[in-house]
Amino acid sequence: MAQLPNSLEARDVAFQLHSYADARKQEQTGSLVIDKGEGIYVEDVSGKRYIEGMAGLWSVAVGFGEKRLVEAAARQMEKLPYYHTFTFKTHGPSIELAEKLIEMAPVPMSKVYFTNSGSEANDTAIKLIWYRSNALGQPERKKIISRMRGYHGVTVASASLTGLPNNHKSFDLPLPQILHTTSPHYRTMKKDGESEAEFARRCARDLEDLILAEGPETIAAFFAEPVMGAGGVVVPPDGYWQAVQPVLKKYGILFVADEVICGFGRTGNMFGTETYNLQPDMMTLSKALSSSYQPISALLINDTVYEPIADESHRIGVLGHGYTGSGHPVAAAVALENLKIIEERDLVGHVREIAPTFQKRLAGLADNPLVVETRGIGLIGAAELHHPAHSDTPGSLGAAANAAFQENGLISRAMLDAMAFCPPLIITDGQVNDLFDIAEESLKKVAASL
Ligand SMILES: Cc1ncc(COP(=O)(O)O)c(C=O)c1O
Repeated sequence: MAQLPNSLEARDVAFQLHSYADARKQEQTGSLVIDKGEGIYVEDVSGKRYIEGMAGLWSVAVGFGEKRLVEAAARQMEKLPYYHTFTFKTHGPSIELAEKLIEMAPVPMSKVYFTNSGSEANDTAIKLIWYRSNALGQPERKKIISRMRGYHGVTVASASLTGLPNNHKSFDLPLPQILHTTSPHYRTMKKDGESEAEFARRCARDLEDLILAEGPETIAAFFAEPVMGAGGVVVPPDGYWQAVQPVLKKYGILFVADEVICGFGRTGNMFGTETYNLQPDMMTLSKALSSSYQPISALLINDTVYEPIADESHRIGVLGHGYTGSGHPVAAAVALENLKIIEERDLVGHVREIAPTFQKRLAGLADNPLVVETRGIGLIGAAELHHPAHSDTPGSLGAAANAAFQENGLISRAMLDAMAFCPPLIITDGQVNDLFDIAEESLKKVAASL
């Protein structure tokens, strides 16, 4: 990588600490500087074009360079660039967006609380759950269960929900009130001779055993993504959700569906909640909510959550929570326009049309000897790589594949040795083929080099 002393690459590592990178390695290699984007493509500062096979971070649903979003932001900037939603004040865009999300919600929801990232939405959910338990006179009901390999963010509380070792190591996490149950990944978690259906039922039994061991009266909520994303794109086995949900109901445990990736079309329905017939009490939304043109997230809560919280805020005199940027008018205006585009262009219908090609080409990667499993649904998927020479260094094969993809003009994301694909929802059939042509060729080269 070119590293002239004054280049953007050199200045980047001189001044910026990056997320999810080995800082020492990055000091040596520099960074890839992305300059612009159009549709499913981005371009780096040298003019090289890439298919953005991850839609940024699973998020740019309507693609790059969407003028309607630029114009929506500019209009709102001119009219009212900022106002807040603290105390008894509010503004049009936040009201409209809250109303829209309640209308769109796949199960009855009552109120929307706006935040600025998926992590903050989940963090706020935890705080409101604790507040509610106190309001209900159940101060012991504070423990929260999420799943190994789940991803829910990086704040102290949401990183605790996240069930990935690298989000805990050296951060002194997880918090003691946050517990993790079995990940629904059949291939790695099954016992000898266990069928997929038996495994799904065992996941529910593991959850119930944990609840009973901890004391059901101490468990407040269960957090889960309908399909796990950053944990490696784990699609739950058939029967999983049908087995898990009754356990939550049995012990009066709130269900929080983290729809930060699944929300707004990714799985072929507007929400993952519909794809799996879920009945959450709370939902967290972000990413495709604004196609990440602006940072915004939302927490939806139903009446059983809202009512005690409202009572408690009345008893105390205030709900002592809020972010300066909650419901930011520019972000809300962009989100509203983005949702309009998703609906007008029927991007959910489009995902259903394109998904068969996407899933067929994804499955085709398994012809490469390095690929031990492919998994996916809708327009999200992953190919898991394995080679005996790399089995002692998890992530090294993923890094090699990532570099080969990048070299050949495709941006993917290596989650250890699982290569993820999650392109903008506007991708066409032909572009899906282009994406997987590059992936296939790149993996062949990696396999040949071993
Ligand atoms: C399912 C899920 N929840 C929460 C988050 C955290 O969102 P953010 O990075 O905006 O804090 C992510 C981010 O990838 C996510 O995939």
